[in-house]
Amino acid sequence: MPFINYASIYSLLVITILRVYTCEAIVKFNVTVSAFFAFGDSILDSGNNNNQLTLLRCNFPPYGRDFMGGKATGRYCNGKNPADILVEKLGLKEVLPAYLDPNIQSKDLLTGVNFASGGAGYDSLTSEKVSAIPLTKQLRMFEEYMGKVKEFVGEEAARKITANSVSMVSASSNDIANTYFLNSFRPEFNISGYTDLLAASASDFLDGLYNRGARKIGVFGAPPLGCLPIIRTFKGAEHRSCVTNLNEAAQLFNSKLKVVLHNLKAKYPDSRIVLIDDYTIVNDMIQAPETYGFEVSDKGCCGTGTFEVGIFCNQWTLNSCFDASKYVFWDSYHPTEAAYRVVVDHVYQNIINGLLL
Ligand SMILES: *[C@@H]1O[C@H](CO)[C@@H](O)[C@H](O)[C@H]1NC(C)=O
Ligand SMILES: *[C@@H]1O[C@H](CO)[C@@H](O)[C@H](O)[C@H]1NC(C)=O
Repeated sequence: MPFINYASIYSLLVITILRVYTCEAIVKFNVTVSAFFAFGDSILDSGNNNNQLTLLRCNFPPYGRDFMGGKATGRYCNGKNPADILVEKLGLKEVLPAYLDPNIQSKDLLTGVNFASGGAGYDSLTSEKVSAIPLTKQLRMFEEYMGKVKEFVGEEAARKITANSVSMVSASSNDIANTYFLNSFRPEFNISGYTDLLAASASDFLDGLYNRGARKIGVFGAPPLGCLPIIRTFKGAEHRSCVTNLNEAAQLFNSKLKVVLHNLKAKYPDSRIVLIDDYTIVNDMIQAPETYGFEVSDKGCCGTGTFEVGIFCNQWTLNSCFDASKYVFWDSYHPTEAAYRVVVDHVYQNIINGLLL
């Protein structure tokens, strides 16, 4: 019997695998993109709430109906969300896995994971009220993640992964639409004061992200919240019209977020931070859906489309919507994959210019 040193074969394999995963980062641009991270709310979440004690979950059909294998992963969509579409376009991987996915592999960690949690907001009360993972905890998860990566590839390689990573943040919709307008959980504030609070909290969060090593950060603005199907239903009166004061609140927040990002860029000259201005494109899709190949923009595809979201959009919901790609909205709160693709295509060059060129 020839002597086979399994241990050395094994370590050779491990080294080869690490080479593949750590050195072949994406160099399509003038800088290397090694990993992608997502933070914030259900626009980006890919299943972190699945094992949380929260009602804001969607790891059941018909969610994921058009996802790979038709699987309900916990994404608040019929298919891929913007985090998935972005890692796909950057050439990093097919989808961005949830950090809390129990089946996540060590190699998945190296090219980035998702920390976002449906229901979260810049206002800590927003996350608390629905038991979403607050942004402060998402930062702690990011720290824990970095500890794991260090163990796996060593300190220096781990540092490079973070330094060459791109991070995306989406929050404020739940704050403005749910906490402020639908539930009136912040009666002590008018909208001017409340958007100040959100902007200050966004600034703190981005500070925290920078202090943990992130250097390239894209931040989504608030979409036209007054036109979400559920808001039309509850606040848009008989005709379910778009609700002006919610749209104005979203725009007011966006103008304050712009200032926050400008100040952070000045404070951290080695950072690249970009505002992902999704308001206009989403509003255009809603006002003129046919221009973008959609047929319906005032109702979601799931159920009646007027109120169903989360547990109310389930396998028992009567559904006559067979082609989600004709709809801007999948449920009464979240866009379809088709709509997300229009948005991401629209803002992609701006993201590349702001972060990678
Ligand atoms: C890389 O940078 C150079 C100049 O620094 C520029 O001319 C070139 O267009 C850039 N390449 C890409 C892919 O952006
Ligand atoms: C909002 O509230 C602040 C302080 O509570 C007050 O100074 C301000 O005038 C209010 N703004 C509006 C538009 O009502």
